[in-house]
Amino acid sequence: MRTAQLTIDPAFAIGPADRRLFGSFVEHMGRCVYGGIYEPGHPEADALGLRRDVLELTRELGVSVVRYPGGNFVSGYRWEDGVGPVGDRPRRLDLAWKTVETNAFGLHEFMTWADEAGVEPMMAVNLGTRGVQEALDLLEYSNHPGGTHLSDQRRKNGAEDPFGVRLWCLGNELDGPWQVGHKTADEYGRLAAEAARAMKMIDPSISLVACGSSNRRMPTFASWEATVLEHTYEHVDYISAHTYYDPSDGDRASLLASAVDMDNFITEVVATADHVAAKQRHRRKLKISFDEWNVWYEARLQADLDRRGWVEAPALIEDDFTAVDAVVVGDLLITLLRHADRVGVAAQAQLANVIAPIRTRNGGPAWRQSIFHPFALTARYARGTVLRTEPVSPRYETKKYGDVPVLDTVAVHDEETGELTVFAVNRGDTDLELQLDLRGVSGLSGQSHLTLAAGDDPSATNTEAEPDKVTPRELNTPTLDAGRCSVRLPAVSWNVLRFGNRP
Ligand code: AHR
Repeated sequence: MRTAQLTIDPAFAIGPADRRLFGSFVEHMGRCVYGGIYEPGHPEADALGLRRDVLELTRELGVSVVRYPGGNFVSGYRWEDGVGPVGDRPRRLDLAWKTVETNAFGLHEFMTWADEAGVEPMMAVNLGTRGVQEALDLLEYSNHPGGTHLSDQRRKNGAEDPFGVRLWCLGNELDGPWQVGHKTADEYGRLAAEAARAMKMIDPSISLVACGSSNRRMPTFASWEATVLEHTYEHVDYISAHTYYDPSDGDRASLLASAVDMDNFITEVVATADHVAAKQRHRRKLKISFDEWNVWYEARLQADLDRRGWVEAPALIEDDFTAVDAVVVGDLLITLLRHADRVGVAAQAQLANVIAPIRTRNGGPAWRQSIFHPFALTARYARGTVLRTEPVSPRYETKKYGDVPVLDTVAVHDEETGELTVFAVNRGDTDLELQLDLRGVSGLSGQSHLTLAAGDDPSATNTEAEPDKVTPRELNTPTLDAGRCSVRLPAVSWNVLRFGNRP
């Protein structure tokens, strides 16, 4: 068996594991809203139409913050369409997903859902087809206590108290030519700066996210961030990053190394933001809002869009995630944690049905996809301070990312409970012996070793008929001897190793 070594010391702190790293995303796209979180008439639906089974799974997933209502959808959205009596709401064409939007679900329904799910709302404003005024109107409607036309309208519509939304995205992916209202970096930067400045006049306590690139492969990547931040740095709190990894080409070795790409992406956005900060003499460091990330069989999207006309809530990009995809998702979470000092918010895209950890059938059950598990367990156990790890690992060759380590790790130390959790991915096709040195943390004993191993059945998926085919299982509890132990990481696996003060 190949071996790798890892020494952990609480002195090497990166920063707190912010709960906002465990965000998700609800877009008016496909069946994420309609038939996902909301389905009036479903046996599990409450009086408002919110599916209780999906709410329960959302809580189990440990989601902290949810971005809404898009995505590409937001760039053509009129938020006013989704408030007031449902019967009076207009039906509209949604150009982003070639869909008819009924507006039965809107701002108030989302806020009620967020409240029930126990998540923080993160709203996006439309800077595609709309501008500063509409962003201000939505903010005033949402956050102003009362005594103005818009805030009183909110009260009339049933929400006496302001929604108090703290996190706001200034548009979505406006660097992308597919985006309705696509802009150059200068056009967007100017608009975002003006919207940001005015929004903070209404509510200075909000945090704002400027749009970064749609992905690292965009031809304008890095120069887009630089130009946008030259306009907006002083007015915003975050720059966004989005990335999806597509398994469709069958290059599993590269797919398993996707986190290497995400890591480089984060480093480059940080460098670009710091460059602008240096140029403009800002002392405040900007953080990243990694508000769309996931595995996505993107090659299938066009077929979904091609085979229909204008319809309501069609099934769109309902990918069935494999055991290998779950290992990749676990590794992407490791990467986000490793950058906890500069990534302040993250949202997996999306929550239900649309490339999602939660799947549903209209009128039928809801179930956990394979990728549900690494998210839920990381959200549960990554509490405390993230520690830097420098594993010594064998390496392997990939087509997309060159020579990469087989092992990827991060550790989180909870000073209050004394617990130490190590998240580890073995990207290799054979088992790996991990030799751990934990002498830097006194009084620890092994508590558990959970693994999600894809080696035996890499293409296994969870389906309605077999919802628990891919689940984590317990391996032998690690036994520490004078602060050291060895554990076996199965081939192609994501692992959680827990240590505590309990004997
Ligand atoms: O999450 C699906 C889509 O991917 C989003 O609408 C868009 O922002 C991104 O390109």
